[in-house]
Amino acid sequence: MSIRMMGHKRGLALAIVGHYIALEGVDGSGKSTVAAALARRLEADGHQVVVVREPGGTAVGETVRRLLLDSETLDEWAEAFLFAAQRAELAREVIRPALESGAWVISDRTYYSSIAYQGRARGLGEERIREINEMGLRGVIPDSVFVLDVEPSEGLRRQHREDRIGRESETFQHEVREAYRRLADEDPARVRILDGSQTVEQLVDEMIGSLG
Ligand code: TYD
Repeated sequence: MSIRMMGHKRGLALAIVGHYIALEGVDGSGKSTVAAALARRLEADGHQVVVVREPGGTAVGETVRRLLLDSETLDEWAEAFLFAAQRAELAREVIRPALESGAWVISDRTYYSSIAYQGRARGLGEERIREINEMGLRGVIPDSVFVLDVEPSEGLRRQHREDRIGRESETFQHEVREAYRRLADEDPARVRILDGSQTVEQLVDEMIGSLG
C-alpha cells in the first residue's frame, strides 16, 4: 500500500493512504469483468474498495460520457479536452477522497487511455495529452496500471456494445496497443502488460502478486 504526502501549490498537504489501480487495454480487452473480480478479491482480503469507470463516475462525467461516445462527430481536440475534463471532476470528487479515506480505487481506464487513443492513435501527441490531463489531475495518478493485452481483432470480436470510438478500425486499435507497450517500456515499475487471453482468476492472481 502506498503512503505518500502530496504537496499542493497553495500549501495544502494531503495524506494519500489508499492504493490506486488502473485497468487499461484496447476495446473488448475485458477490463470491466476483471475490475469486478479484482474488487471482490480485495474486499475479501478486508480492503475497502471503490470501483470507477472512465469516462463517467460522476454526474458531470456521465453526461460528458454521452457527449463523447454518442455524438455523431466530434472535433478531435474537443474529444481530448472532454476526456480530460470529466477526469478532473472524477479525481476531485471521488478518487482523491476515497484514497484519503484509505480505500483502494480500481479504475476501468484512466488518462493512459487518453495518451494511447487521443495522443497516439488520433495523432494529437502523447506528451501534450499527458500534460493536459496531469494539469487537471493535480497529482491524483494511478500507482499501478495493468494493461490487458489482447489482439485488436480479438478485442473487436469480443466487444459487446460499439460506440463512436470503439467503431474505429483495427489499425487504430493497433496504434492504441503500441502506445500501451511504449508506456510500459518507459515506466515498468508502474505500468505492466498482462496477457489478456488468461482466465479472469489468473489475471487477478497476477495483479495481486505484483502488488506485493
Ligand atoms: P469504455 O467504456 O471503456 O469502452 P470499452 O468497455 O468498450 O473498452 O470506453 C469507451 C471508449 O472510449 C473506448 O473506445 C475507449 C475510448 N476512450 C478514449 O478514447 N480515451 C479515453 O481517455 C478513455 C477513458 C476512453
